[in-house]
Amino acid sequence: MDSHVPCARVRAHANIALIKYWGKKDAALRLPFTSSVSMTLDDFYAETSVSLLGPSRESEFFLDGSRVPDQRASRVLKYIAAMQEHFGVTGGVRVESHNHVPMSAGLASSSSAFAALAAAFAAAYELDVNRTELSRMARLGSGSACRSIFGGFVKWQRGTSDETSIAVPIDEHPSMDLCLTAIEIDTTAKSMSSTEGMKRVVETSPYYPVWVSRTEADCTAMEAAIAAGDFTRLGKLAQQSALDMHALNLTAHPGFTYFQPSTITAMRTVEELNSAGVECYFTMDAGPNIKVLSRSENVEEIKNRFRAVLPAVTIASTSFGPGVEYLSQQGKG
Ligand code: PMV
Repeated sequence: MDSHVPCARVRAHANIALIKYWGKKDAALRLPFTSSVSMTLDDFYAETSVSLLGPSRESEFFLDGSRVPDQRASRVLKYIAAMQEHFGVTGGVRVESHNHVPMSAGLASSSSAFAALAAAFAAAYELDVNRTELSRMARLGSGSACRSIFGGFVKWQRGTSDETSIAVPIDEHPSMDLCLTAIEIDTTAKSMSSTEGMKRVVETSPYYPVWVSRTEADCTAMEAAIAAGDFTRLGKLAQQSALDMHALNLTAHPGFTYFQPSTITAMRTVEELNSAGVECYFTMDAGPNIKVLSRSENVEEIKNRFRAVLPAVTIASTSFGPGVEYLSQQGKG
């Protein structure tokens, strides 16, 4: 890197929602219908650098070492242009991002990507923003990203406006013994993006109002479970929120599902593990992969059981991760 180019490098960790966000009230501002609660993960993260190239250059995006053609990079490039307009800054920027996930695609999440991008952008331009403002910026890139600014347990308060729809930490250094084991069933691109899936559900499912009222209550119950250190309550609430979200998809018009045959096998495996005295719960996002919540003492048994039942899947376990971390910053000097 040219030593005169202002540049910042940031790491942001992916998060998994325990109480899901599924539906936007305002698509442009990415304001959700409901609040959500998540867990930031340790081993799944993105590292992103933003370099300021100067006025005569176009912005460019590199992912895992390769330049992404502008058409595919448009979501990132549009985001950069919108942030530049908002903060009154200009010039071409180079975004270089690396995904660090112990599996090919299942956990390469937009939550870590846009949290890292927002923080690297702000640091490269030396903008005076706090973590609340960073959360707002990250949300504009991808809703779930607003939660990855913080570590541990995090709540995204739905709010009513751009300024008030932000994440807040619930407990950045949880003492709860909680592990997440990701079971990667399928690595191919998902058939329906989260944006499209949410839109269809909001517009067509007669059950959507029920989801909204239940999810607000579920967030409150989840916060109480976290405060009490109650793993059983947390697991039951998380599994039910995922099932409610996926049930909603079936009730859209036309209905759809992210489930694959192996998803059902994985759910049954969780049931069998519980019957055998291994307490665990599953959650799922906009794809067929299952994430199992358990205490650390049960992780090996859970992995072994899944390896026996679904030999082709990739499995990786992790626990709580931190919020955004600044790896380097080189100013205008
Ligand atoms: O913000 P997005 O587009 O990454 O949507 C996330 C949606 C879910 O992962 C399914 C739920 C959530 O709250 O993260």
